[in-house]
Amino acid sequence: MKLILIAAHDPNMVIGKNGELPWHYSEDLKFFKRTTMGYPILMGRVVFEELNEKPLPGRENVVLSRSKRYEQVKTFSSITDAIEYLKSNDKVFVIGGGKVYEQTIDLADELVITQIKKAHDGDTYMIDYRKDIGMEWEEVWREDHPEFAFVRYKRISKNQAP
Ligand SMILES: NC(=O)c1ccc[n+]([C@@H]2O[C@H](COP(=O)([O-])OP(=O)(O)OC[C@H]3O[C@@H](n4cnc5c(N)ncnc54)[C@H](OP(=O)(O)O)[C@@H]3O)[C@@H](O)[C@H]2O)c1
Repeated sequence: MKLILIAAHDPNMVIGKNGELPWHYSEDLKFFKRTTMGYPILMGRVVFEELNEKPLPGRENVVLSRSKRYEQVKTFSSITDAIEYLKSNDKVFVIGGGKVYEQTIDLADELVITQIKKAHDGDTYMIDYRKDIGMEWEEVWREDHPEFAFVRYKRISKNQAP
């Protein structure tokens, strides 16, 4: 199973404000939809609340929470249990938020990132993986747009080191 983090961040690694996205770029929402469609998505309870507790269609929605259980989605109280449940899938997308990215980035095989060019106010941040580019992460694809860039990074395999 490939674990892929998908996230959008601004130049300061801001990803959220008041439990929501700080921006609205419809092209980015479309990119998110076509990238994740058909694959399971793993998210924190705050993100699921942001979705009004309605699963995103066409994808198995899996939620992490120690305080809540939902009838409409599988809920796990640990990342290990969620990953055990999801392990037979080819790909699983971690869709946030900050707390969940923080705990899964070391397990991730790939990062699918929207780098927003303009700085925004926020209260939730993603871990800054950019310091590890060239050591842990290799850029394998980039598509530039005026307001953001879509970028994919793959984990540099340990065997690849000289
Ligand atoms: N820009 C982006 O790409 C992006 C993507 C997603 C989200 N966001 C933003 O990020 C913000 C939300 O992020 P957040 O960090 O506040 O919350 P979050 O990561 O969505 O959810 C945190 C909650 O998930 C549960 N959880 C986390 N780790 C767990 C574990 N190991 N085991 C069991 N449960 C676990 C806990 O729920 P309980 O408290 O119920 O135990 C925890 O309080 C929002 O502003 C959202 O818009 C941005």
